[in-house]
Amino acid sequence: MNDPGVIEKIAAEVKRRLEGEGSGHDWWHTYRVWKISRHIGIGEGADLFVIELAAFLHDIADHKFHNGDLTVGPAVARQMLAGYSLPDEVIDHVCDIIGTMSYKGAGVKTDMRTLEGKVVQDADRIDAIGAIGIARAFAYGGYKNRPIHVPGEEPILHQSKEAYFKSNGASINHFYEKLLLLKDRMNTEMAKKIAEYRHMFMEEYLNRFFKEWEGDL
Ligand code: ADP
Ligand code: NI
Repeated sequence: MNDPGVIEKIAAEVKRRLEGEGSGHDWWHTYRVWKISRHIGIGEGADLFVIELAAFLHDIADHKFHNGDLTVGPAVARQMLAGYSLPDEVIDHVCDIIGTMSYKGAGVKTDMRTLEGKVVQDADRIDAIGAIGIARAFAYGGYKNRPIHVPGEEPILHQSKEAYFKSNGASINHFYEKLLLLKDRMNTEMAKKIAEYRHMFMEEYLNRFFKEWEGDL
């Protein structure tokens, strides 16, 4: 049997490490991904133990803060999980999910191998869209000193992860390069439904944004 106390202990350690992070990858993002993952995971009849561990650990060492290196996250997660007595299959599964999850550009596939991976990836992507997604996009842009919008600067549909990781356009372009594309990339039916609502809200937001940009009162 898996010890349910492991999840609480891992959550507490993640909270301690990510609290106060200012780029939108903070503890509260992890907390929301955990909640959404549980919700979808229960609906899908997936293995909640794996889902909860992967949700809590998924941003413990994001590639964006390690020169695009996608191996650091799973390695740090593995180190943390090694402190508990867990079956190797669980640790391998969780680390595999963490290593595959990230969005890597409009033209790059990021297929998940297992149902649990699909669920956590969906939850991470749901937290990137809607009202929360809008807040995170501008928080991230501000953290990177980027302008909110530069008229005439076109979005880029990146065809490689290297190009996507290097991009540094205005925050508004991120909506066209990622956020508006996510609803069609959800894995589970439940996530597709949630994404529809959040997508509509972002479209409405962008309509208003461009109107107000031109002084339309
Ligand atoms: P994932 O969790 O799929 O790896 P990222 O780590 O790339 O996604 O992005 C996490 C958050 O940071 C998202 O909410 C996203 O909106 C925001 N973000 C990432 N890149 C940019 C960018 N270039 N401009 C604005 N926001 C960004
Ligand atoms: Ni995330």
